[in-house]
Amino acid sequence: MNSVTKAVIPVAGLGTRVLPASKAIPKEMMPVVDKPVIQHVVEEAVKAGIKDIILVTRSGKSAIEDHFDKHYELEAELERKNKTAILESIRSIVPQDVTIASVRQPAALGLGHAVFCAASSVNNEPFAVILPDVLVNNHGQTDNDLSKMVNAFSQHNAAQIMVESVPQDQVQMYGIADCGGITPPPGESVNIKGMVEKPAPDLAPSNLAVVGRYVLPARVMELLATTQAGAGGEIQLTDALDELLQEQKVEAYRMSGKTYDCGNKLGYLQANIAYGLQHPETASGLKSFLTEQV
Ligand code: G1P
Repeated sequence: MNSVTKAVIPVAGLGTRVLPASKAIPKEMMPVVDKPVIQHVVEEAVKAGIKDIILVTRSGKSAIEDHFDKHYELEAELERKNKTAILESIRSIVPQDVTIASVRQPAALGLGHAVFCAASSVNNEPFAVILPDVLVNNHGQTDNDLSKMVNAFSQHNAAQIMVESVPQDQVQMYGIADCGGITPPPGESVNIKGMVEKPAPDLAPSNLAVVGRYVLPARVMELLATTQAGAGGEIQLTDALDELLQEQKVEAYRMSGKTYDCGNKLGYLQANIAYGLQHPETASGLKSFLTEQV
């Protein structure tokens, strides 16, 4: 059995980078081709063997919980009309052996605080953290990056933090890992010596940015209980991880797929094009359309 079966997905953000689109709907509900971003992320977790998903949410975002809930009226109507394929696509959004629960983040005190809100649900077990702004596209690969991180977590007995090289002038937007000058090959992990949240470009220890996937030991929740506010006045997950690596091995896992940051306009458009080019119903039409544009 998989050693990591729980995942925390923080969805309490205000989505200010994608306004006005996200004014009345959660940004996580914006579609990439035919599914909301959050469904792509939940499917990624399920493929990696996650069975219990804990959404950390806030008021005004109940559409996310509704999306994963049963919709009796809709199902009855589709059944009556014999629309079996679409009915099946609605019913299979969450496999039967996967549960989706939610907890609330009472105030926007940072990512570390959001993750800590799920502490009692995680209940002293290792867990994954998945930031839903980022879509990881592992199209064509048998195991997705999150599965490989879960495997590395068990085999190396070390936390796994997904990283990707970013241009030096963007390091202040991310958590940055100090790997002693080493950049691991895609799909592999190396030891992290230190982590810093949103450093100034001239102070960054590397350009290896944390891109929104973590596989962590239960100890992180204990550390978060006492983590003080850091960068931006917020309780940062990065700071708890920097503390963790002083006690135990923490590794940077270099992703092998491609990421799209759906929390900004360009990344969101790119995700739609990349996933649209992979979808059997849209691939060829979209390809011809794109060719006409250039
Ligand atoms: C958060 C994390 C940061 C990480 C980033 C990835 O920052 O705090 O370490 O690099 O997500 O998207 P945010 O984007 O919420 O400011």
